[in-house]
Amino acid sequence: MTAPEQVQLQNIAACDYEIFALLKQRYSPRTFKDLALKEAHIKQLFEAVRWSASSYNRQPWRFIYAEKNSEGYDKILSCLSDFNKEWAKNAPFLMLTAYKKETEDGKENFHALHDLGLSLGGMTMQAQYLGIAMHHMAGVDWKQAEKLFNVPEGFHITTAIAIGYYGGELDALSTELQQQELAERERMPQEDFAFKATWKS
Ligand SMILES: Cc1cc2nc3c(=O)[nH]c(=O)nc-3n(C[C@H](O)[C@H](O)[C@H](O)COP(=O)(O)O)c2cc1C
Repeated sequence: MTAPEQVQLQNIAACDYEIFALLKQRYSPRTFKDLALKEAHIKQLFEAVRWSASSYNRQPWRFIYAEKNSEGYDKILSCLSDFNKEWAKNAPFLMLTAYKKETEDGKENFHALHDLGLSLGGMTMQAQYLGIAMHHMAGVDWKQAEKLFNVPEGFHITTAIAIGYYGGELDALSTELQQQELAERERMPQEDFAFKATWKS
């Protein structure tokens, strides 16, 4: 077994209850295979978004994506926090996510962020099915990104995402990041967030 395969095995969720294999196998790596995403796979990722549910079918999600060795890629990379820049440069594909802030009648679309997130959940699972990892990032200077990409009024850049096939060598990372990649994954127990019949603090 190769080292990247071992890391993948080690990161399978230690579930308390059995879940769908794709959910269990997903994690957020900081290394990626040095391979461009296939054009057909890119289309499949956005198709998964396309068929996501959204409030009143408003489909408020928007994306800007770019492949490695392009001006667009360097522009997205330049908007990331220093911490994220350090490892996200390993990804062959970078993306910014955004949502439309208002409804057709000019009111705040309170559910737009929910819908963007839900669509990304679908995309993340479609990606997993294709052997593609998505590492979502809040560490992005959204103001700079909106300026650099001339994002029109009424839209808000939300996150960046590093995307690529699972793989890549651990030694592409600093010692500290290698440790994080191999660290045990932790989650709070269900009782702390799923309340039956009454709010539990
Ligand atoms: C909205 C969002 C923002 C995140 N921002 C960052 C980030 O800026 N940098 C980073 O290294 N990881 C980021 N992550 C990844 C989380 O740290 C990761 O999902 C979490 O620790 C659980 O690990 P897992 O995805 O491997 O299960 C983000 C994840 C999400 C969903």
